[in-house]
Amino acid sequence: MCGIVGYVGSQSALEVVMSGLKRLEYRGYDSAGVAVLADGGLATAKRAGKLVNLEKTLGRRPLPTGNTAIGHTRWATHGGPTDANAHPHLDNAGRVAVVHNGIIENFAALRAELADRGHHLASETDTEVVAHLLAEEFSSCADLAEAMRLVCRRLEGAFTLVAVHADEPDLVVGARRSSPLVVGVGEGESFLASDVAAFIAHTRAAIELGQDQVVELRRDGVTVTGFDGMPAEVRTYHVDWDASAAEKGGYDYFMLKEIAEQPKAVADTLLGRIDATGSLSLDEVRITDSELSEVDKVVIVACGTAFHAGMIAKYAIEHWTRIPCEVELASEFRYRDPILGERSLVIAISQSGETMDTLMAVRHARGQGSKVLAICNTNGSTIPRESDGVLYTHAGPEVAVASTKAFLTQLVACYLVALYLGQVRGTKRADEVQEVIRDLSRMPHEVDRVLETMEPVRELARSLAYQDTVLFLGRHVGYPVALEGALKLKELAYMHAEGFAAGELKHGPIALIEDGLPVVVIVPSPRSPLHDKVVSNIQEIRARGACTIVIAEEGDEAVVPYADRLVRVPATPTLLQPLVATVPLQVFACELATARGNEVDQPRNLAKSVTVE
Ligand code: F6R
Repeated sequence: MCGIVGYVGSQSALEVVMSGLKRLEYRGYDSAGVAVLADGGLATAKRAGKLVNLEKTLGRRPLPTGNTAIGHTRWATHGGPTDANAHPHLDNAGRVAVVHNGIIENFAALRAELADRGHHLASETDTEVVAHLLAEEFSSCADLAEAMRLVCRRLEGAFTLVAVHADEPDLVVGARRSSPLVVGVGEGESFLASDVAAFIAHTRAAIELGQDQVVELRRDGVTVTGFDGMPAEVRTYHVDWDASAAEKGGYDYFMLKEIAEQPKAVADTLLGRIDATGSLSLDEVRITDSELSEVDKVVIVACGTAFHAGMIAKYAIEHWTRIPCEVELASEFRYRDPILGERSLVIAISQSGETMDTLMAVRHARGQGSKVLAICNTNGSTIPRESDGVLYTHAGPEVAVASTKAFLTQLVACYLVALYLGQVRGTKRADEVQEVIRDLSRMPHEVDRVLETMEPVRELARSLAYQDTVLFLGRHVGYPVALEGALKLKELAYMHAEGFAAGELKHGPIALIEDGLPVVVIVPSPRSPLHDKVVSNIQEIRARGACTIVIAEEGDEAVVPYADRLVRVPATPTLLQPLVATVPLQVFACELATARGNEVDQPRNLAKSVTVE
């Protein structure tokens, strides 16, 4: 939520910051703004709406050239998406500029205090108070980093703040508490951003900022201190994503590219996790085998699409390990006082590694003495850093707001964790583990085969562009797949879409069925005991007028008479079916959204990384 970029170096800072903002626009696109230090002063431009509006403004009224700049792309929290509320925010003298991600919870009190002291605040944002407080502190200490530390100690909430001051022309100061900020170290230049994607075109050397730390960014390097002023240890890591991974690569949308990348993403997530004997080896997990063998309960916490991955993981974990597993929306988890202990294993699934609800669930679980294992796609992000162990998915950067390849790789990671637990606890024999690994290793190829046959799905999506509602049904692991299909359609096509457990239909939702209503049904493999029941469900809804869109395994002839449209997916073991069955639903939603003229990569009201609760 909100993208932030800062730069100090010898390049045109405005150009570096604008190209960084382009890569971060997925984080929020309600407004954008920049501030450049040049000619002893501060020049700013900001506009409501997407970055393109700011580009146009800068085209008409260029800013002076300078080597230090900050920029921001906003997902609105306090105050609507207007020019006035766009960041950067300045103090009354126009000497300090601040950009911010997160929420300053005590801003109302601070604002009142500033107003009493004669400050005039021009926006409705929580951010603006920081610009004024920094100006006050700077006027007594003449040190922007110290001013930032003093101000941060007064703030409540979760925030990333980045500031420049006209009196310190070669300095950018950043601060973070429970909100993302990474630093990039180049040759004679330094960067900071909400996400490495903003600077990987310039440097792959990155520094993770810890909790409650302030960073001073200069051409010749960076200094990190705690909010208390104590020097902090700096850990540099190499970012292995390359710049082209964050480009569209010839596709019209990032989402299309990311859907197409799924076979590779699945293969990469499996890579290096099987040792010479064919057993699973998950070294990075950092939770010992003896601790894992003691686990008496697994709790999965996640949001949105990652939550659906968790729902599927539950089936695998319980089936392969016989350990009871709960799946909980991270936003609900800690508020119901969950029963956790030292033998509970909490698995936090998050693509971004920054989702605030999931982070708070992680903190709560650790506070109760439970071990937390993160399944995450973003190296160095907060959730894996605050967890006991991590299993990284290797999906590469996911830029489109709607999650696709991250979901498939989260599933793979969950299967690996489930198998590993089974291996460690002896509930899965070595040959059984190897058999599942062989099945998983076939999946990149099977996903590829699904992708090759998607033209009829696209055509179907276009033909349904004017529908109001689409329902999705599934059972067992097909149920979370149905929920995921509905979520994709809601967020991209802005249509009423709902996923149901097919067995629940007769308990109410069947009343929704009317003539011509499109209903997508995910059919389990004919080898599953649920197959015939789902075929009966299809007959029931068809008898009531539904237009049935059936996703079924190749060779499943039983569904043919009842399918108005039939989408074939390769045969897989039951538990792995979501890896192939989800793909047509992603393509369907993407094409339907395009047909309705929607912004596929940047759906309205959303942001990729939800860093506020
Ligand atoms: C939907 C989607 C969201 C995310 C959710 C969690 O397409 O992308 O529902 O899955 O916001 O995000 P992460 O995985 O970053 O924690």
